[in-house]
Amino acid sequence: MCGIVGYIGSQDSKEILLKGLEKLEYRGYDSAGIAVMNEAGVTVFKDIGRIADLREVVDYDVFASVGIGHTRWATHGVPSKRNAHPHQCETERFTIVHNGVIENYELLKQKYLKDVDLVSDTDTEVIVQIVNKFVNDGMVVEQAFSETLRLLHGSYAIALLDCENRDTIYVAKNKSPLLVGVGEGFNVVASDAMATLQVTDQYIELMDKEVVILTKDNITIKNLDGIVMERAPFKAMIDASDIEKGTYPHYMLKEIDEQPAVVRKIVQKYQGDSGKLTFDKKIINACLEAERIFIVACGTSYHAGLVGKHLIENMAKIPVEVHLASEFSYNMPLLPKKPLFIFISQSGETADSRSVLVQVKEMGHKTLTMTNVPGSTLSREADFTLLLHAGPEIAVASTKAYTAQLAVLSIVAEVLGRAQGFNLNIDLVHELSIVANAMSTLVEDKHTFEEIATEFLSITSNCFFIGRAHDYYVGLEGALKLKEISYIYAEGFAGGELKHGPIALVEKGTPIFCLATQEHVNLSIRGNVKEVVARGANPCIISMDGLQMEGDRYVLPAVHPVLAPLVGVVPFQLISYYASLHRGCDVDKPRNLAKSVTVE
Ligand code: G6P
Repeated sequence: MCGIVGYIGSQDSKEILLKGLEKLEYRGYDSAGIAVMNEAGVTVFKDIGRIADLREVVDYDVFASVGIGHTRWATHGVPSKRNAHPHQCETERFTIVHNGVIENYELLKQKYLKDVDLVSDTDTEVIVQIVNKFVNDGMVVEQAFSETLRLLHGSYAIALLDCENRDTIYVAKNKSPLLVGVGEGFNVVASDAMATLQVTDQYIELMDKEVVILTKDNITIKNLDGIVMERAPFKAMIDASDIEKGTYPHYMLKEIDEQPAVVRKIVQKYQGDSGKLTFDKKIINACLEAERIFIVACGTSYHAGLVGKHLIENMAKIPVEVHLASEFSYNMPLLPKKPLFIFISQSGETADSRSVLVQVKEMGHKTLTMTNVPGSTLSREADFTLLLHAGPEIAVASTKAYTAQLAVLSIVAEVLGRAQGFNLNIDLVHELSIVANAMSTLVEDKHTFEEIATEFLSITSNCFFIGRAHDYYVGLEGALKLKEISYIYAEGFAGGELKHGPIALVEKGTPIFCLATQEHVNLSIRGNVKEVVARGANPCIISMDGLQMEGDRYVLPAVHPVLAPLVGVVPFQLISYYASLHRGCDVDKPRNLAKSVTVE
């Protein structure tokens, strides 16, 4: 969601900015722009649509060694050229890009900008106009910038240009991610190291409410009181080849294919010297001391949490509740004296999850983040982190991060169970290797899932996923995948709930995907299929070896039943992928969605 990139050095900035924005495309956006600064002043190029559209409007003859760029995911005001960033103040002296939401922008507008005609509907423009006003009132720019920041309620990552000082980019952040990249004779600023990995792998983390004065040779970080902060750079541990598509047509397909390797890597990363799975003793103790675990997450990560609850309760016998982060504050459960909060987040940046993290930390509770991004906000702010080791996930629709979450959750469950001396009767290292092999079989069988997508989803406008026990949760994830990228209306239902409402939606030909991987509910879910078939539905049953029955459309290789979700989800990912492809949708960048949702 919204991406920022900035460059100050001696090379032409345009291509660095445009390439950087292309690397941030995965976050989700609907318009984009760059502003470049040279002796002639600041020139802004922006357009709605993709970076490819922006490239069409850029004047390549303009040379400028300073610039800022932005991808916008609309919050205040429709996606339009007028609302796209960068924004300028009325004199065009100052130019800004901003990621985040300024909650009090209307109040600020009334208080400080009564006489100013704003040209956009954005909260961002208010910031740049106030900086300009404060400078007109006599403040020096740095002071005007800090004073403006003090007024802002909400989240921001900001890069600001002053065309009367061509040697500086002013940078600041609060709650929204932003990094400064260190180069030789140049420096950069970016929402994500991926954006500027092509020019540097050295980055400095910024803390909330810090201001950075960035020149080509210097990085000065200050807090809002002007105190200089010293901080050493770190090396971004991202392999540039991990963020390329290679020969794949889409990141999503690449990421689906990577799943067997990710599961194997997770086992390797979590295997201790004895060969047994393990992780930081402090985390084990924190989990065991908890009277109850609260898993908090959004989207796909929430679906992983639902499976995780059962894994942990079954193997570790610790009660677990799973909550949607966005609902948690309104629906705060009764907390025991010693809860442990687990935040599951691929990106580690999701604002809804972060807001709960801040809230429960203030209450003094222990927190653990399970994330794919080391150094992400949720990872930095929680007491503990467990990494997913899935490698960068670029496609908006999450695939390998979900299976990585399930694999790590199964490890957490097993380690906690074993630490309490329970006889678990499962060799998880071995069972996860069987899962990885099963996933390999499935990703090699893509053509079958393409056929299924054609057969069931070519003409439909809605479709349902049913299952019982673990399969119900995988169905929820299957439905989410399908709606996210193909825009087919899809919902997941518990098999037993069909007759309490959803069955009213079933018409002749309605596709119903049914997952049947759990022996103890096999007969009951088959009964539910009969109910919908009797009403004209077109069922696609995906079962597991050993549980198959006549008419099943696909039989998954057998894996341990508690790990079946890792395998059961793969057909749904591939079916969704092909449904999206056949409908001509933008598989990796579905409309209206963002990968990293940094607003609440
Ligand atoms: C967005 C993404 C989803 C993701 C959700 C939670 O909505 O499009 O794919 O599941 O955010 O993201 P997180 O990074 O916290 O797992």
